[in-house]
Amino acid sequence: MTEITKGNSYTDYQLAQIYDPINEADHDIQYYVKLATEISAQSDRKLHVLDVGCGTGWLAVELAKLGHKVEGIEPAFGMLKVANNRPDSDLVNWHQETGSSFNLPNQFDLIVMTGHVFQVFLTDDEIFSVFDNLYAHLKSGGMLAFENRNIEYRSWDRWTPDETRETVSVPDVGDVTYWHDIIEEKGELITFATYFKFPDGREYRDDNNLRFLPQQKMKQMLEDTGFRGLEWYGDWDQRPFDPSQREIIVHATK
Ligand SMILES: C[S@@+](CC[C@H](N)C(=O)[O-])C[C@H]1O[C@@H](n2cnc3c(N)ncnc32)[C@H](O)[C@@H]1O
Repeated sequence: MTEITKGNSYTDYQLAQIYDPINEADHDIQYYVKLATEISAQSDRKLHVLDVGCGTGWLAVELAKLGHKVEGIEPAFGMLKVANNRPDSDLVNWHQETGSSFNLPNQFDLIVMTGHVFQVFLTDDEIFSVFDNLYAHLKSGGMLAFENRNIEYRSWDRWTPDETRETVSVPDVGDVTYWHDIIEEKGELITFATYFKFPDGREYRDDNNLRFLPQQKMKQMLEDTGFRGLEWYGDWDQRPFDPSQREIIVHATK
């Protein structure tokens, strides 16, 4: 039987390389690009944008190619290496930091957290320390925009091996098969494993925790931090949020 090695999808370069082929849908990228374009048109100038938990840098580079000045915050070596290998990566300033540790001498027009980065913050203390840091790095009138999966929609019910198993073609690696499996559901915290099977027979397992913070708690914590003018959407077509929707997308103003 093949031995399964413990891996980390974000810090291990060999697993980080698989992130983009797995996450090919670009609804969220299009959404945040459109948002930046609209804010830029209103102010009649290009923006200074911060992408927190920027991962492989897809959105950050797209925004930079449109002429915005972009900084990417990302703690994981593997993801940053993929970002650095991306065409036009030199248009973005990359920082190996977390959402609570970064300290830049700038205040931004727009801060984004995409790909459900928000769900990696597992405790109230961690969320507040990230929100406080983002608030301090926003210009007055600037916007924080990010999304969270709606706990009431229970996306994880579909994270079974049968429903998620897929084979993707990874440049320089070949066909990689991956699937998810739920390990534990405990209130707002979901623990799940992702398995990866490489063409040469290597197998990896990465265990992750995500928090599904309900919308009312998000609202309270954003307001307690000082954010105002909260706007809520339920999906990438900007339909209004209601509890039946899959996403909780929020725009919050300083
Ligand atoms: C699901 S990926 C999303 C990446 C990217 N934003 C996207 O849309 O594809 C989550 C990212 O959050 C990063 N991350 C983990 N802990 C973090 C922290 N404390 N602060 C900021 N980012 C973090 C991970 O390394 C990973 O790149």
